[in-house]
Amino acid sequence: MRRGMREMAVQVMFAAFSFLLIRVSLSELQVTVSESPVKANVGDNLLLTCHLGVDQPPVDMSRLMIQWYHRGNLLAEYDNKLDIQDPKVHMSKEELQKGNASLLLSNIKANQAGSYRCYVYYAADTRMKEIVLEVADPTKVQEEEEDEQEICPKGSSPLVLNKVDEMISDFYKIHGKLRSLTRKVQKCLCSQ
Ligand SMILES: *[C@@H]1O[C@H](CO)[C@@H](O)[C@H](O)[C@H]1NC(C)=O
Repeated sequence: MRRGMREMAVQVMFAAFSFLLIRVSLSELQVTVSESPVKANVGDNLLLTCHLGVDQPPVDMSRLMIQWYHRGNLLAEYDNKLDIQDPKVHMSKEELQKGNASLLLSNIKANQAGSYRCYVYYAADTRMKEIVLEVADPTKVQEEEEDEQEICPKGSSPLVLNKVDEMISDFYKIHGKLRSLTRKVQKCLCSQ
């Protein structure tokens, strides 16, 4: 009798555990990008692919946020609306609804080489995938762009960079306040 109960308890726990496992794998957000490195020539048009798969299609646009970064600079963002920050890139809202968050680069320049990051936030899930773009200039014999690639140190995430920007702007605000305060104190002192 005792033994039977224990077996049953084990079976119930096993069932609960499997159920949890299935739930976890179902809520998985899948993001796939172009295989790195992507090679292009100056002047090319190129699609950097970033596709997302959600467990229950279609994509619920109200729970989705996308960000594309290049060396810490925000290129394009979807957060309730599409916001293209860099005139050299293009993204389509219609394609995004189908899970296609690819970024189109037109007329590529040498300084567009380097790492691109596709951030996908969906409900409580976040994924980041990186694509490394190599740009060759067939009109130049030497390759001089190599050392330009890692201006942004490895592992400095855009979130950290955003924080740095915030701190700098806070600093200027405080600085501004201090200056006006100093001016007021000076006025006080002078009028005495
Ligand atoms: C994804 O969207 C881009 C436009 O942003 C388009 O050029 C491309 O063909 C689309 N890819 C697929 C697989 O539909």
